[in-house]
Amino acid sequence: MITVLGSLNMDLVANVRVMPRIGETLIGNAYKQVPGGKGANQADAIAKLGGKVQIIGMVGDDSFGRDLKESLNRDRVDVRYIKTDRNTPTGIAMIMVNDEGDNSIVVVPGANFKLTPKDIDDSLEAIEEGEIVVAQLETPIDTVRYTLKKAKELGKYSILNPAPAARLDDELIGYIDLLIPNETELEVLSGKAIESELDIISAAKILIDKGVKELIVTMGDKGSLYINGNESRIYPAYRVKPVDTTAAGDSFIGGIAVALWQGKTMEESIQFATKVGALTVTKEGAQSSLPTLKEVEDFKGLNQG
Ligand code: RIB
Repeated sequence: MITVLGSLNMDLVANVRVMPRIGETLIGNAYKQVPGGKGANQADAIAKLGGKVQIIGMVGDDSFGRDLKESLNRDRVDVRYIKTDRNTPTGIAMIMVNDEGDNSIVVVPGANFKLTPKDIDDSLEAIEEGEIVVAQLETPIDTVRYTLKKAKELGKYSILNPAPAARLDDELIGYIDLLIPNETELEVLSGKAIESELDIISAAKILIDKGVKELIVTMGDKGSLYINGNESRIYPAYRVKPVDTTAAGDSFIGGIAVALWQGKTMEESIQFATKVGALTVTKEGAQSSLPTLKEVEDFKGLNQG
């Protein structure tokens, strides 16, 4: 079992030719509501890739909350540990996607930010049941720290995706086995500007010195860089035509979690997750773009590099 602690958002997505400037009104091409939220996306990716997964989270008592739970449940994510806050709306994300597939996202966390350490105590058996615990930063930091602490005490393997970017205290950093930031998040975490591969390695070493065992730094169309205390290795991305990059990072993390859970090596897991991320950018939306295991297995991945 993989246990995800994380956010559930309804994504309100507008497709635009170009991003609007401040003060500008633009006519968009299309609008959709798509299930999203980094935690829910990662859990959904794991389920679609054949993993056994449950999510700890919080929604509001509203139609978005019910729809998000139903959609995860349909995809075989165990939603028993999603609580409902009667006084706070479900989280939403306002997303604009331009013709290049790039996005701008504003998250209004709503009920996601009502999840407390007490809720984790109430769901402790979910942490006990998971061999791997996955978290991001769209739920309160105290709750993330508490969850990773419990995971550590219970001998679980923990993965943190530090998104959206935030500085983390040393206690929390010390609980992480595998950290998966992008370059911006690594800059914020390490306090070091990143312009080259060497910068990434020295920034990662700061975190390894604080107790993180290994890192995978995602670099978009440049691929990813794996680093532990002794070695580093680049994994190039596949060349695909991007339609919408939303949830590409989430699907990569889901791919890593499910592959490690199945006993694959780190190298095999990164290779698998790289395919998952590549397929995700070829489709629109967050959970709507996550590939199935069959799609990943059938992906030929030509032109890598
Ligand atoms: O990582 C993509 C996700 O970020 C979106 O689904 C949105 O909800 C925000 O949480």
